[in-house]
Amino acid sequence: MKKGLFIRKSMRSEAVEGEEESHGLKRHLKAFHLVSIGIGAIIGAGIFVITGQAAAEYAGPSIVLSFIIAAIVCAFAGLCYAELSSMIPISGGSYSYAYIAMGEFPAWIVGWCATAQYIFSSSAVAVGWSGYFSNLLRDFGLPLSEKFTQAPLVFSESWGLSGALINLPAVILVTMVGVLISVGIRAAARFNHAMVFIKLATVILFIILGIPYIQSDNWLPFIPENTGVFGEFGLSGTFRAAGLLFFAYLGFDTVATLSQDAVNPQKDVPKGILGSLFICTLAYILVSLVLTGVVSYTLLGVPDPMSVALDVTASKFVGVKFLVKLAIIAGLASVVLVQLLAQTRIFLAMSRDGLIPHAFCRINKVSRTPVFTSIITCLIGMVISGLFPVNALGQLVSMSTLFIFAMVCLGVLLLRYMHPEMKRGFKVPLVPYIPFIGMVACLGQMLFFPLASWAVLLGWLSLGLLIYFAYGMKRSKLRRQ
Ligand code: ALA
Repeated sequence: MKKGLFIRKSMRSEAVEGEEESHGLKRHLKAFHLVSIGIGAIIGAGIFVITGQAAAEYAGPSIVLSFIIAAIVCAFAGLCYAELSSMIPISGGSYSYAYIAMGEFPAWIVGWCATAQYIFSSSAVAVGWSGYFSNLLRDFGLPLSEKFTQAPLVFSESWGLSGALINLPAVILVTMVGVLISVGIRAAARFNHAMVFIKLATVILFIILGIPYIQSDNWLPFIPENTGVFGEFGLSGTFRAAGLLFFAYLGFDTVATLSQDAVNPQKDVPKGILGSLFICTLAYILVSLVLTGVVSYTLLGVPDPMSVALDVTASKFVGVKFLVKLAIIAGLASVVLVQLLAQTRIFLAMSRDGLIPHAFCRINKVSRTPVFTSIITCLIGMVISGLFPVNALGQLVSMSTLFIFAMVCLGVLLLRYMHPEMKRGFKVPLVPYIPFIGMVACLGQMLFFPLASWAVLLGWLSLGLLIYFAYGMKRSKLRRQ
């Protein structure tokens, strides 16, 4: 049995294995599908919900700058993901890269953080979806009891009970997504495709309706004066909003987890990552310009900021607001779908390496999808989205994602040094500067999180360490070779 926490997989065997075999998964996805999957995972609660709060409480019209700052950090990480995915075209994304670049123990930590990222962010978005869905039913005169549409747990300074029983719509959504991803990657991709079309159409409609109503006075002052509290307007507010809006960009990395579902992963996965990130950045900048140009940012601190602007721009078009709500409901569902799908691929990769039980990498012969893994992933998602409030989930998601991005940037640096000879379908420009700045920016952003968020992250990591030392380390395939 081989020893050492930093035992690494061989680069060559992984790349060759990835090229020649798809381990029973069907290779269906082309560049276009991968861009669509990226957009499906990215555009969601971030732009539809969080933008308003970021503008009203922290940045004012300068959320446009906040979006650009967050996009730059994500672009650095995105470039690094693109290089690694073109070099190591296997399922598992960041987890698999870390196994080769840094070794088993760091890979376990990255995989465990990726699990937090995907399961918790899909649950957070499912909770957001439940809010919009209940609201729509109310518009139709069908109010649902709050006992069944709210999280029973609340979190502010400490944990408490809300009096609700379960967030039922969120649980039902995750169940339906579970069925879709078990049926087959093609069915899931088709559903996602339709949702992405609706989502982008909504964003474009919002921009077109809004442009004639922009009043440049609303953009002044572009960076409102700081209130005297760090992070409340002024430049510090712009940066704080960038941290919050980072959530809006999450999802481009899911494309990297699907390498073994891709027909030509070396070329198409980088296109999927960078293409979806580029399209969403453009959409976010335009939406935030229109939003803050049409109404004063002071009015945007509501859960549905786009509706506030539509009251001005589309008051004559009966039904537009309703359509936008429907589109948001569809859009949020696709985020849940893609994130849970990505999680199944992380479990698959970890199980193939022996770090979690073998059942997680079993592929169903009929659907050629990991049905057992999909069921377990969705069961966990159902419990979390049914019980937990969105704020507690969001903190863990942002912290763990920043950590993963930093590790991916580090991975590029390490592999350029350790394996300069390996073929790379895509190369990050200006190495070592871009990966290094990306890594420092991600770790630096983590430092701005409150202690409570660190406590949640450390709690999650402790659970992961327990599982690794009690199970994974003993069953690791690499150690038994
Ligand atoms: N980027 C995703 C969203 O905004 C997580 O919902």
